[in-house]
Amino acid sequence: MSEQPTPYGIGATTTAQPPLKRIRIPHLREMKERGEKWAMLTAYDMYTAATFDEAGIPVLLVGDSASNNVLGNKTSLPVTVDELLPLVRAVSGAARRALVVADLPFGSYEASAEQCFHTAVRFMKEAGAHAVKLEGEHMVPQVELLTRSGIPVMAHIGFTPQAEHSIGGYRVQGRGEDAQRLVSAAKSLEAAGAFAVLVEMVPGGVGAQITRSVAVPTVGIGAGNGCDAQVLVWQDMAGLRTGRLPRFVKQYADVHGVLREAAGDFAAEVAAGAFPAPEHSF
Ligand code: KIV
Repeated sequence: MSEQPTPYGIGATTTAQPPLKRIRIPHLREMKERGEKWAMLTAYDMYTAATFDEAGIPVLLVGDSASNNVLGNKTSLPVTVDELLPLVRAVSGAARRALVVADLPFGSYEASAEQCFHTAVRFMKEAGAHAVKLEGEHMVPQVELLTRSGIPVMAHIGFTPQAEHSIGGYRVQGRGEDAQRLVSAAKSLEAAGAFAVLVEMVPGGVGAQITRSVAVPTVGIGAGNGCDAQVLVWQDMAGLRTGRLPRFVKQYADVHGVLREAAGDFAAEVAAGAFPAPEHSF
């Protein structure tokens, strides 16, 4: 009797092929030096991680945006470390080449450098993350301790979604004289050891100014074309999310439409008795 593939993806593996050379922090720095721009995408599960990895995306972020893009919360605030750990494990298990960055969720790192260290260690040990990301201009002690401990940190400045209530909603940051504050923050975080600075929702000129001011790569989201890299949430990029989208999103596909059509076709064939056909039956 011939062996069947396992149902529901049980035991499915995306790592049947030999390992590829992993993207590492120095590669990102070298790309900046060569003026090569790169793309980062969020991923929250094994199939998207493997697909984006295959597409050559060098950095995958398991964002706390899983809170609103996977778990159905209204904001990124409610998601917990225990909820994110299995998603990070799925992504780091599936990515053969990409560097996997785990986002530290709200409340898991702000109180002290020690709190931050213990949370980051969980993501590295229990989920196989290669680096972590944290939000805020004032996280220099956290970045210093993690860097000293061998944990690469991506710092996130500009609009920081975890602080949306103190910021007063989704607002562009760094306009006018405020730009200098962000440039100084990027420099301090770089000096503390951050391997990259993510810059969210700032005027394009400010994104470019920050990029020129630091030697580490900047990753922009709504920060103009002058950053070294660009990131989007995958459901935004691929058109799974519908409705009103932020100005900085470009949709490269209509995954929502494709899935809706496939689900409709499946339901129609089941209703008509056309599925399963003899070739799908034992
Ligand atoms: O969690 C997330 O998806 C982010 C985005 C800004 C990329 O931090």
